[in-house]
Amino acid sequence: MANQYEHLLTVIDVGSAKTCVLVAEITDSGLRYRGHGFAESRGSRKGVIVDLDKAVVSIQKAVEQAEDSAGVPIEHAILGIAGSHIRGVNSHGGINFGTRAREIGREEIRQAVEKARSIPLPPDREILHLLPQEFILDEHGGIHDPLGMMAARLEVRVHIVTSSAGAMQNVITAVNRAGVHIDDTVFEPLACADSVLSSDERDLGICLVELGAGSSSLIVFHEGAVMHSAGIPIGGDHFTSDLSFGLCTPAADAEKIKKLYGNTVVTLVPEGNEIEVPSVGDRPSRLISQRQIAEILEPRARELFEMLRDNLRHAGLMEMCVGGIVLTGGASRLPGMWDTAESVLRRPVRLAGPAPLAKMPSNLAEPEFATILGMACYGQRSRIARGLQDARWSTKLKLMFAKKGA
Ligand SMILES: Nc1ncnc2c1ncn2[C@@H]1O[C@H](COP(=O)(O)OP(=O)(O)OP(=O)(O)O)[C@@H](O)[C@H]1O
Ligand SMILES: [Mg+2]
Repeated sequence: MANQYEHLLTVIDVGSAKTCVLVAEITDSGLRYRGHGFAESRGSRKGVIVDLDKAVVSIQKAVEQAEDSAGVPIEHAILGIAGSHIRGVNSHGGINFGTRAREIGREEIRQAVEKARSIPLPPDREILHLLPQEFILDEHGGIHDPLGMMAARLEVRVHIVTSSAGAMQNVITAVNRAGVHIDDTVFEPLACADSVLSSDERDLGICLVELGAGSSSLIVFHEGAVMHSAGIPIGGDHFTSDLSFGLCTPAADAEKIKKLYGNTVVTLVPEGNEIEVPSVGDRPSRLISQRQIAEILEPRARELFEMLRDNLRHAGLMEMCVGGIVLTGGASRLPGMWDTAESVLRRPVRLAGPAPLAKMPSNLAEPEFATILGMACYGQRSRIARGLQDARWSTKLKLMFAKKGA
């Protein structure tokens, strides 16, 4: 029976701060918003489920809201995976056809990619994506799609995104328990790129950093291909807990103070401003200077961007990011982050929110929704690619070179 909801797609992001579900409709003129739901996350931290029952309740809540808002039942979805357990590795492999050139078909491409992916992985790691960077035909590189071309040797360079198998399976289990089947998983920054990066940026060389609550994730594109991916174990919640300890105030108050008065650059905060800070227990609240808040936040922001800088340098990619750095995710909203990133990384930095979907409510046009909206774009591209070729590995392969809006 043809599914009456076939033209709809659902994406789920189980974050450390919020669990978000979005339903979009695939139309001839592009993606259209149908509905969404979100719930405060309970039981998930840094991309890892720490309390399954609580996580299931949060997911159920967000799913029910999205069902009401879209007016459809949600049974299948694409799930986002992120966190500091993500690792990216580059690999290379190829096949010889003997002395005579032959036409390259899907099977030859599959075999070359299989060779490139057969690297030893620790038993607890699972491949999340296999992203071709370039095909090399008889030593001529830079080829994106070798199908139908002639060569005696076919090689491929790939970027392999791996995830902790346990961490990924636990998020899938939590969503399954909430009554939703997972059709596909996606590394969140890869999907997020669809919503915030231009094709030019991906060609020129760019690092997209998604600053979440529990951790941050990054992805580097160059010449349209993924060169690097990683997780960084600092997110917005570290800033909140620094304030909570530093000011001796409850976490919920620290979170409010961070959002209302926070800045990661001390010198950007005017001298003399005083704000009221609640104390713990029954002690009276105190007045402190707004600069004192920035004094607590600044070292954490510098640490975060120094980790990013070291990660990019270690991967040998700092020079490749000619287009600079793009920051998104909820924690990118903290004032001063742009300045600190430019000062530490010495590259042009841009703060990015998501490209809106047709009919989308304006409250979703914020950086913390860039990932969920990008996941919808990724889902649409995935559907198109799946219509072109059916095998699961080749679908993901094709996707990587498909330009935005393809
Ligand atoms: N206006 C703001 N100013 C400062 N920080 C903010 C602001 N809005 C949100 N944040 C911070 O952003 C973080 C939440 O971001 P986001 O919603 O992207 O996280 P998440 O996706 O739930 O978590 P993760 O990606 O780590 O799993 C929180 O730490 C929150 O304090
Ligand atoms: Mg997130």
